[in-house]
Amino acid sequence: MSDDPGRAAAAAAAAAAADPTEATDAARAVRRWNDAGPDAVLLDGFHALKHALRFGADVRVALCADKAGTLRLAADLAPDLVERLTERLTEVPAGVLRDLLARVHPTAVAALAARPSREAHLAALSARPRRAPVVVLDNPRNLGNVGAVVRLAAGFAATGVVTTGDVDPWHPNAVRAGAGLHYATAVERLDPDALPDGPLYVLDPEGHDIRSTALPDDALVVFGSERHGVSDALRGRADALVALPMRDQVSSYNLATSVGMALFHWSATSASPRVPRPAGH
Ligand SMILES: C[S@@+](CC[C@H](N)C(=O)[O-])C[C@H]1O[C@@H](n2cnc3c(N)ncnc32)[C@H](O)[C@@H]1O
Repeated sequence: MSDDPGRAAAAAAAAAAADPTEATDAARAVRRWNDAGPDAVLLDGFHALKHALRFGADVRVALCADKAGTLRLAADLAPDLVERLTERLTEVPAGVLRDLLARVHPTAVAALAARPSREAHLAALSARPRRAPVVVLDNPRNLGNVGAVVRLAAGFAATGVVTTGDVDPWHPNAVRAGAGLHYATAVERLDPDALPDGPLYVLDPEGHDIRSTALPDDALVVFGSERHGVSDALRGRADALVALPMRDQVSSYNLATSVGMALFHWSATSASPRVPRPAGH
């Protein structure tokens, strides 16, 4: 999945030429990278690879510039993964990583994984009973926000994140901002008319104070785009409009921070077994 097949071929040649004793594995790994196809998901950096492995991603190829250093990082931050990373990581010369990637992550780790099945995600999003909300982003524009929301949904064990509009929530920049946690929840783009069933709770500064209500476990919790807010079509279908507290003269919060507050409110008011709780509680 190189941006440029010519560069990927050059990287394969460089990997083969760099060190005849180690060239074979590196060259083979670069070839797997090149053959991964346009749908492969780029896991950029150690933390993205760590999360993706923990949540069951099918990692096709994982490269690093310093395997011993990466395994030391793993021993420190993710001891649960040291064995798998030892097996899966292939060391390649730093220049090869630079040839394959537009920008090499400071950890000099990058991997490609398969994009999960849309069918499985749609089944997870519509499964009943639903024990945790689905977050709906109505026509989001900023991929950093999309990734930050996926990360929140993963942390709160939400059922999934649905986007409407033309942005792909699996865009590499959204996956980068999500730190690999797209694999921990069901992330899909859907037509607004094809949303799963469930009460529609629309977040809108004009709504009722969120503190006076609980967000049901089976709710679709809807947030608007950064510039235009929630579309009239979705607002018109709302079962409830709810507002986050803001002092006078502040017009709105950032999209991702709004999702964070709403999911925190759900976690603080729900008795669902899905709500993450500290160990022993
Ligand atoms: C940056 S805001 C959108 C601002 C936009 N200019 C507008 O007219 O609504 C993005 C989304 O975050 C949510 N949001 C932000 N502040 C909120 C608040 N105080 N109460 C409820 N929702 C809020 C809403 O869903 C909103 O559509």
